[in-house]
Amino acid sequence: MISDILSMNSSSHGLRFIRRDSYEQISEEAAGMLADELAAKPDLLLCVATGGSPKRLYELLAKQYQTAPQRFSRVRILKLDEWGGLAPDDAASCETYIHQHLLTPLHISADRYFTFRGDAPDAETEAGRLRLMLAQLGPPDVCILGIGGNGHLAMNEPANELHPHAHVARLTPHSQTHQMIQHLSTRPSFGLTMGIADILLSRKIILLVNGAHKREAMKRLLTEKISTQLPASLLRLHANAWCLCDEAAWPE
Ligand code: PGA
Repeated sequence: MISDILSMNSSSHGLRFIRRDSYEQISEEAAGMLADELAAKPDLLLCVATGGSPKRLYELLAKQYQTAPQRFSRVRILKLDEWGGLAPDDAASCETYIHQHLLTPLHISADRYFTFRGDAPDAETEAGRLRLMLAQLGPPDVCILGIGGNGHLAMNEPANELHPHAHVARLTPHSQTHQMIQHLSTRPSFGLTMGIADILLSRKIILLVNGAHKREAMKRLLTEKISTQLPASLLRLHANAWCLCDEAAWPE
């Protein structure tokens, strides 16, 4: 079954799978893809996930910066999602993560960073502002994603219906155990997130999957039909989406 899906994906369309031995290798592969994209379009709009999956990729980009700072002199960064209720300077926020892992090491100026607040007084108004911002910016050139253990993408949780555009999302109990927020005494019950259409409009998508804890989600991605109950499966509709998966996450 899995080999059928793989051969189906060896065509030039659909989500394509790259399997590598280690997390280091998938991160290097992604860093190489990004270097190529930046060479072709230095001011590309890069939409970024936070969390464990892209961490090593971002470290490798910071390393690239040491020898080739000019590579990052025009890149624009867009936040993918944010935990509801967290202030930008909260250590657990996606905002703090992006500052630490991308904006500071890559010296991204404020005019090249596009963000929104998880603690806005009115989350719906902030989601509306994000929709407007996206309409003005245009779709991302490249979107970096991780997959949730429950198959979510960003904060688009498994459901009968998905939202196309940026919105306020209720978090599932599963997502409330995410390592970024699991230590908080009051965990966020909602988040602000790009919608599935916003993600699918990206010119190129790189999905990073690593670790044994992602094996079940990966198995579902490889074997299940496209469904809103498995938001990551929607990536199979994209013409330029790459799933980089390490050996530990690869189902056998
Ligand atoms: P992770 O999170 O990269 O920290 O595993 C992915 C997700 O839950 O979307």
